[in-house]
Amino acid sequence: MKLFNSDYFTYKDNQLYCEDVNLKSITDKVGTPVYIYSKIFFEDRYKKFNSAFAEIDHTIFFAVKSNFNLNVIKIFSDLGSGIDVNSEGELLRALEAGVSTDKIILTGVGKTKHEIKLGLENKVKFIKTESVEEIYLINKIAEELNVVAPLAIRINPDVDPKTHPYISTGLAENKFGIDSSKAVNVFTEASKLNNLKLVGIDMHIGSQITELSPFVEAVTKLANIFIELKSKDINLTHFDIGGGMGVVYNEESPFTPDKLAQALLPILKPLNCNVSFEPGRYLTANGGVLLTEVLYTKMNHDKNFMIVDASMTDLLRPSLYGAYHHIQPVMLNNGEDIVADVVGPVCESGDFLAKGREISKCEAGNKLAVMSAGAYGMVMALNYNGRRRPPEVIVDKDKFYIARSRETYEHLLYDEKIIHELF
Ligand code: LLP
Repeated sequence: MKLFNSDYFTYKDNQLYCEDVNLKSITDKVGTPVYIYSKIFFEDRYKKFNSAFAEIDHTIFFAVKSNFNLNVIKIFSDLGSGIDVNSEGELLRALEAGVSTDKIILTGVGKTKHEIKLGLENKVKFIKTESVEEIYLINKIAEELNVVAPLAIRINPDVDPKTHPYISTGLAENKFGIDSSKAVNVFTEASKLNNLKLVGIDMHIGSQITELSPFVEAVTKLANIFIELKSKDINLTHFDIGGGMGVVYNEESPFTPDKLAQALLPILKPLNCNVSFEPGRYLTANGGVLLTEVLYTKMNHDKNFMIVDASMTDLLRPSLYGAYHHIQPVMLNNGEDIVADVVGPVCESGDFLAKGREISKCEAGNKLAVMSAGAYGMVMALNYNGRRRPPEVIVDKDKFYIARSRETYEHLLYDEKIIHELF
């Protein structure tokens, strides 16, 4: 079977390491399933992205929806990153991690009044809006608070990002943003409202995008709107291109930040404004693994199954999107390869981590690493079947720390009790 090796996850003496930590030492301490992240990976990725755009005034806002562990947020924030939040919960996490509010931007296609108010009270850098009704509401709330709301308007450019339909967001049929053909009118109307300051134009066309052309097409469309607005004396200071850069899960060959810069700088430079990016997956996905233990193996009707202790509740991506995550043993056994389904304990046939996968033959007790699980892994974990969400561990060179402990049954039951009174 092929092995995913990198500078951050690699085998020494047949044992899988993250940086200089033997992963076995982590499972000995915290058990399985467990998420493990490489701090150096996060730092390297941030620096690579940041240096690719060094030529222009730019800001990276780490999209915490990809990995919202407080310690992960702090790692990026300590590097100087801004933070993109999509809800009150993510805003509270960013604040708890010590991020200063002027480095936070607030996104969301369906923000509540309360969330808008919270964003304004906390003086976030800007709020992104996705509908005309919301523009009026933000203006009204800002008026009530006696503040001026810094606003960016998200445009739906109707561009095909050529990715999984569930994570395409910039097509005409998607719920996100404002129709690009209406953009100039909407900006013009919004510019007449007293409690708004129009600061930016924004897009996010999808996720796990591996081709440059959709970015070029969408950024070109938005740049034209930006220029037309300027001619109408609406002078924006921010151009936000969202996130979406793809990574390698299997055989993909995504573009690098340097290539993205090469393609976009000729369009962005003449705009002479601050360019914002909201990468999530690029910064985190390949920096994490989910470790799991084989509970049982069996052959049913000529088909091999490995039943492991992680499930769709820990890593939903395979079940939800049919996503590929490479799976390899934590300790190489040089045994024969078999083809098997790697499945979890949840009572759903859709509960699998891999189907028909070539994998080295394992037995109960062996540990497996599910690779590239640093983005949209733990953040999408569930309690279905009464399962506790797994712990998260961060490796820093030859040390590791538990960034979040395994959920307890007290956590699962804390807001429920048997009711004896009727209202
Ligand atoms: N900005 C906005 C407004 C977004 O909606 C997203 C992701 C990002 C930035 C970050 O995108 P990234 O750089 O990570 O592609 N659960 C799915 C991915 C959903 C992405 C949602 N929005 C998955 O597991 O593939």
